[in-house]
Amino acid sequence: MATKKDTQKADGGEGSVKSDVLREPAERLYASELDALAAADKFEKPTGWRLSPKAVLLYIMGGKVGETNITPKYVGAPRIVEIAIATLATDRALLLIGEPGTAKSWLSEHLAAAICNDSQLLVQGTAGTTEEQIRYTWNYALLLAEGPSPKALVPSPIHRALEAGKLVRFEEITRCPSEVQDALITLLSEKVLTVPELGLHVQAKRGFNVIATANTRDRGVNDMSAALKRRFNIVVLPVPSDIDTEVAIVARRVREIGSSLQLPAAPPAEEAVRRVVQVFQELRRGQTIDGKQKLKSPSGVLSTAEAISVLGNGMALAGHFGTGRVNDRDLAAGLLGAVVKEDSKDAAVFVEYLENVMKKRGGAWESLYMACKELV
Ligand SMILES: Nc1ncnc2c1ncn2[C@@H]1O[C@H](COP(=O)(O)OP(=O)(O)O)[C@@H](O)[C@H]1O
Ligand SMILES: [Mg+2]
Repeated sequence: MATKKDTQKADGGEGSVKSDVLREPAERLYASELDALAAADKFEKPTGWRLSPKAVLLYIMGGKVGETNITPKYVGAPRIVEIAIATLATDRALLLIGEPGTAKSWLSEHLAAAICNDSQLLVQGTAGTTEEQIRYTWNYALLLAEGPSPKALVPSPIHRALEAGKLVRFEEITRCPSEVQDALITLLSEKVLTVPELGLHVQAKRGFNVIATANTRDRGVNDMSAALKRRFNIVVLPVPSDIDTEVAIVARRVREIGSSLQLPAAPPAEEAVRRVVQVFQELRRGQTIDGKQKLKSPSGVLSTAEAISVLGNGMALAGHFGTGRVNDRDLAAGLLGAVVKEDSKDAAVFVEYLENVMKKRGGAWESLYMACKELV
């Protein structure tokens, strides 16, 4: 169990205290921000919430409370976040949908951290998710030895959230088989979980709710039933459309990741970030930023999250094998990997982009072009 002492101050800056945990949950990473917000919070809190909706919004969008800086977590329209927070204060659950890498998981983690100080009650939806994982299972050794008893019951994260009046996160809900999704319907409408073996009815405490996420790319595989959809308010997280927003998101996250992974390199220059983001946006849209030239788009997803990892990998390369400053060779490998995933056609798309766009731009683009060219 980690102690309060090694709670990391996550300002993304150099001065942060390091802990040896690879990835701390948001409520520990941002504990000082959350404490400051809780101490200064004068607005009414819904029962079971640690912060008022306004304070949750401030935590997510960033700002200042007293002397404490609150770092922005989600970069985008505040209205989207307001709708998400307001939904969680009602008896409807929240469903965040969007393309991969649009911060659905990220936002849901921070919402849970701010609202109930616990982002770790989590069900990961997969094709193999079973109804037991949503309800409860048994410790079979105890069950066989003593028969069903509360001691032998192993509650699911949803079960625990109901009992504690907390938020539970349900990741990638549309990947679950539909009978599993259906098990959620009663839970969400009746707000009660029954354990027939023990004659037990676990009633949801105030504060309980569900934040689910779903990728638009997955839809259709196990499309949600209308009945289940009706229990959710759906909030769409958009792909950032303008380059400045995406550069801001990527630059901030790369800085934070570099410091939390203790990479021995300086964060990439804004110009490098901008170039990577521009390549991503142009390939994603199928045209150059100025709209003058049509391009082919690769088949895979080119998300903001991938732009972040291209630059993060660049930092690791520069730090361990280079000069400590991210250069174009450090970026080229990641860029190629992000654009060309499995489809060999994507390689042709990338080469076309290199020759028809990047090469012709010249200037600062030239060395990135050369570095990419070496690899294809
Ligand atoms: N609008 C945004 N604001 C802040 N971070 C973002 C934004 N879009 C993407 N990110 C970053 O992208 C990364 C991946 O997001 P994630 O939540 O895993 O995506 P998904 O939508 O697939 O669940 C996170 O590190 C997050 O910080
Ligand atoms: Mg996700």
